[in-house]
Amino acid sequence: MRVLPKANELCWCGSGKKYKRCHKETMEPVHAGRVSPRLPVPDTIDKPTWADGGRIERWDEPRVKSPEVIERMRRTCREAADTLAFLGTLCQPGVTTDEIDRACHNECLRRNSYPSPLEYPGGGGVAPFPKSLCTSVNEVICHGIPDDRPLADGDIVNLDVTLFKEGVHGDTNATFFVGEVDDLSRRLTVVTRDCLLRGIDAAKPGRPLNEIGRAIQSCAETQGFGVVRDFVGHGIGEQFHTELQVCHYYHPRLNDVLEPGMTFTIEPMITAGSWRVRLWTDGWTAVTADSSRTAQFEHTILITDDGNEILTTPTDPSSHPYWSL
Ligand code: MF3
Ligand code: CO
Ligand code: CO
Repeated sequence: MRVLPKANELCWCGSGKKYKRCHKETMEPVHAGRVSPRLPVPDTIDKPTWADGGRIERWDEPRVKSPEVIERMRRTCREAADTLAFLGTLCQPGVTTDEIDRACHNECLRRNSYPSPLEYPGGGGVAPFPKSLCTSVNEVICHGIPDDRPLADGDIVNLDVTLFKEGVHGDTNATFFVGEVDDLSRRLTVVTRDCLLRGIDAAKPGRPLNEIGRAIQSCAETQGFGVVRDFVGHGIGEQFHTELQVCHYYHPRLNDVLEPGMTFTIEPMITAGSWRVRLWTDGWTAVTADSSRTAQFEHTILITDDGNEILTTPTDPSSHPYWSL
């Protein structure tokens, strides 16, 4: 499969220029680096079933959570959001994604919580996720594995933090600028933030679930961007991923009605070019088929009687990374 345009073909960015005259020099594709040894988690920390080589346990978790579960989710989600805001300050040129992962790991332990991605089982013979954080740089859509690649001036990097504490998960991510970023990548990132917020606006009790994807898709496509189909938002609570799926494009059959007490993520992945996915041989790293850049933002939300509540709001809301976009 061709990954990048040939030198004389049009650049993927829509400038109308030849690739060699446009993004060829500045945007080398991301390559897999070296992954450091697994970091330990002390016995005093409550672990999900997959820690230490275990399996994902699945059961019929009610979509509508009890007030008691919701209270625990509020606390865990806030810890995830505060961790993400802190990690965002580390996204500087020269810092490796492995260093950011180690900071995430240590921050989770300091907060008496388990980093949910660590040892999360892969499907179909894929080794468990080896790190505590997903770091997805430039054309990496999601599930990038932290390694020894230093962040470069002009990169965009998504950090996806999930924390397990008090028996529940809190899942949130954001895309950060590394140094000076080109206009297209900035616009892509701002539009992706807007897509998430429009999706959240559409998440109201009594409304069909697919209104969320409809709002996101129209926000992205009117700006000329693509919506990734292969990864979706998900129900969350005592399980990291429940059966509830939240498509980020309009899916006519996903018309279940939203009810107060439901908790799920919205996490649109938006692309500057093709929304089709190619998987690295590590079985995790998902990149755009044409190596165009991609951005993502994620919140865990709760449907309330009169709208919704963003559970992954940090203690200081103005510390959320999209505040300044
Ligand atoms: N946090 C991701 C999500 O939003 C899932 C990461 S699973 C991992 O659903 F194994 F890749 F870490
Ligand atoms: Co998620
Ligand atoms: Co996530």
